[in-house]
Amino acid sequence: MFKLQSRNQFSPLLRNSLTRNYAAAVAKFQGTKNAKGNYTVTMIEGDGIGVEISEAVKDIYKAAKVPIEWEAADVRPLLINGKTTIPEPAVKSINKNLVALKGPLATPVGKGHQSLNLTLRRTFNLFANVRPCKSIVGYKTPYDNVDTVLIRENTEGEYSGIEHVIVPGVVQSIKLITRPASEKVIRYAFQHAISTGRNHVLVVHKASIMKLSDGLFVEVAKELASEYPNVKLSFENLDNTSLKLVQNPSQYNNLVMVMPNLYGDIMSDLSSGLIGGLGLTPSGNMGDKVSIFEAVHGSAPDIAGKGLANPTALLLSSCMMLRHMELNDHASKIEEAVYKTIASGPENRTKDLKGSSSTSHYTEQVIKNL
Ligand SMILES: NC(=O)c1ccc[n+]([C@@H]2O[C@H](COP(=O)([O-])OP(=O)(O)OC[C@H]3O[C@@H](n4cnc5c(N)ncnc54)[C@H](O)[C@@H]3O)[C@@H](O)[C@H]2O)c1
Repeated sequence: MFKLQSRNQFSPLLRNSLTRNYAAAVAKFQGTKNAKGNYTVTMIEGDGIGVEISEAVKDIYKAAKVPIEWEAADVRPLLINGKTTIPEPAVKSINKNLVALKGPLATPVGKGHQSLNLTLRRTFNLFANVRPCKSIVGYKTPYDNVDTVLIRENTEGEYSGIEHVIVPGVVQSIKLITRPASEKVIRYAFQHAISTGRNHVLVVHKASIMKLSDGLFVEVAKELASEYPNVKLSFENLDNTSLKLVQNPSQYNNLVMVMPNLYGDIMSDLSSGLIGGLGLTPSGNMGDKVSIFEAVHGSAPDIAGKGLANPTALLLSSCMMLRHMELNDHASKIEEAVYKTIASGPENRTKDLKGSSSTSHYTEQVIKNL
């Protein structure tokens, strides 16, 4: 029979979520400029095409005169006493700079490593994953005019790591929803809605079936609504949102969706598909102190080192980072140059966008369009 475990037997992720202390204002950037007037940002180039796309970002930032100095960090995981761990110098760099830009990391297969993304979320308590999806002019998909923002709870739900074999052939996986973690991500969604002028938060849930867990998520949103009287709050069942998103995504353009972990994982990839895939999608992992921005695609080992990689997703992630740091003008300037380059024709687009450009040619064009 399944016995309730003692608190110490729970995963570190769960223990964190039970003991965390939450402040009212969440995920505000608190970094300061150095004597030269620049911020220092930790750069995790990553594996495979990571080196090529990070180089493109650095070249474009230099040309755009963004007030940033990069500090390189290696986060390739170490396995210490069976636990996946980030190397200490990288942890120190990220904790010092409070912000990092991350390229893709190949997950070692069959060596007992936990997913590095999960390790990063756990190490820095990155409680919300933000995934905007905006149609890119010049890259036609069946959907025009997509402009969605999805915020995913990033620390618990089905990812709590609490699984048991009850008897052979019967396993149990526990979905954990806590008031503190729900409050944190929903509060962030309200703040994001206000700061982006969307002024509408849509909670996506399945409380009709998960009455207690999703029910708590919904209840917390209703409670917080009184603190944000100028933001509309509405609710929708996950299955209904899935249907409506693929029928007509533009009906979600003027709001911010927020949802528990697994729903957010699936729905954010679905949203990426609407605009042409993960290669165009930026993301941000927000924590109280530290935030890490990353392209959501992988290390693309099939094209690594060939000069064919598309740096757009990492570039757009870096623009999310600039907005988080309140360097909005620099973000707009780079975003506009990226969109102009992609729209300018297949000769200036990389192969994954049905073009013929190399990484370096694309980078030069973005610089020209700045
Ligand atoms: N966030 C991350 O760090 C992350 C995410 C996904 C996968 N991974 C890791 O990356 C490795 C490879 O994974 P995969 O092959 O399943 O997925 P992938 O995203 O690396 O590649 C899938 C396909 O998309 C193409 N592609 C991806 N990004 C591209 C870009 N920027 N420009 C042009 N083409 C691009 C690749 O060439 C490949 O054909 C694995 O070790 C996986 O664990 C890491």
